[in-house]
Amino acid sequence: DFGHFTYDPGFTSTASCRSDITFIDGDEGVLLYRGYPIEQLAEKSSFLEVSYLLLNGELPDKNELADFTRSITVHTMVNESLKNFFDGFHYNAHPMAMLTAVVSSLSAFYHESIDINDPDSRTLCAHRIIAKMPTIAAAAFKHLVGEPFVYPLNRLSYSGNLLNMLFSRPSEEYEISPIAEKALDQLLILHADHEQNASTSTVRLAGSTGTNPFAAIASGCAALWGPAHGGANEAVLRMLEEIGDASRVEKYIAKAKDKDDPFRLMGFGHRVYKNYDPRATIIRKTCHEVLDDLGMANDPKLELAMKLEDIALKDDYFVERKLYPNVDFYSGLIYKALGIPTQFFTVLFALGRTPGWIAQWTEMVEDKEQRIGRPRQVYTGAARRDYVPLDKR
Ligand code: SDX
Repeated sequence: DFGHFTYDPGFTSTASCRSDITFIDGDEGVLLYRGYPIEQLAEKSSFLEVSYLLLNGELPDKNELADFTRSITVHTMVNESLKNFFDGFHYNAHPMAMLTAVVSSLSAFYHESIDINDPDSRTLCAHRIIAKMPTIAAAAFKHLVGEPFVYPLNRLSYSGNLLNMLFSRPSEEYEISPIAEKALDQLLILHADHEQNASTSTVRLAGSTGTNPFAAIASGCAALWGPAHGGANEAVLRMLEEIGDASRVEKYIAKAKDKDDPFRLMGFGHRVYKNYDPRATIIRKTCHEVLDDLGMANDPKLELAMKLEDIALKDDYFVERKLYPNVDFYSGLIYKALGIPTQFFTVLFALGRTPGWIAQWTEMVEDKEQRIGRPRQVYTGAARRDYVPLDKR
């Protein structure tokens, strides 16, 4: 019994695993990381502190946070030969393709030193992955924009380092905007974990075979990329660009309701939340603040998104199906305001989700009752029959 929540034992029959990490109540719109409400963490914590919480189960004290921060920053560099990967990508390669490939290649550098049965080795892998994801992501970004890679600067905060690697250039001084740094750190917190979503379940299933954590995290990147999952933040911006202006909203709402039309309202609906996604509530507020601070309060895309939300939330089709904005509906508008191109949005989702993936992987590996994942099926194919020679067909 979680205080005012009661855990429905019947649910365990369909649950893929037991976990101590994240709790979601879809009907109530509740999200807790290790028991702490997402609203409080988003407002008061930092991404590295939340990463520590997800990995260790408790909030760190000052020394623990300082040690953890140091244990991450010492691993922000990647092997110099990793840069050769990017030379092989086409100039307009999708950054999620680059991220998935290069994260997987980390296995090539560390596979001899990884012992997933050794807690210290697992911790080292966790720190390396959390530390190197921004460096790899920023390298993909620089490849996309045709600019030289920028090395991490460990005196900067996690999000400040990421912004610097994304936007600084040899030709000019780059000053990190505190607005951008705070907004980015909060978005990373909001994406950090979400119990057994598709990409986390992929990480757990891949990891259950005993493969190394770099390969398991790469499988999570691949699953996250889909527009029904983490790729939705990119799809929302493309949808808003296609709708163009408020006069066309009703037409697209009708398309979303048409069973024969594959169009869905991107950023709306959720497998678990049948209420407002608590992350969307926070992101919506941050979106207004950031665009206000950046003098972009009249961004036509924001106005269009708000109009879309307003009409959909009053439409019986969405109300009856309990379809509300999810984490992806407003996040892209903030990324865009920070100067991040649309095709890079899902990479930022992956960066945020990394501590959650690695915490869930660790929990799975440490569970001594854990066996290799092996989903079964309901067979609906042909009954047994004998082979028919070619000349008889
Ligand atoms: C994420 O699982 C997680 O935790 C994921 C995530 C995380 O943090 O890891 O929260 C991140 O992936 C959020 C979701 C991002 N995806 C999108 O925004 C894409 C648009 N959303 C839809 O594709 C959809 O809502 C899904 C994929 C999110 C959920 O799909 P389901 O499970 O099929 O949705 P459902 O069972 O609730 O659908 C019920 C009805 C269906 O119609 P009927 O068959 O009842 O007539 O609602 C319809 C659906 O067709 N529907 C939509 C819709 N979402 C559901 N109709 C129009 N537009 C939509 N967005």
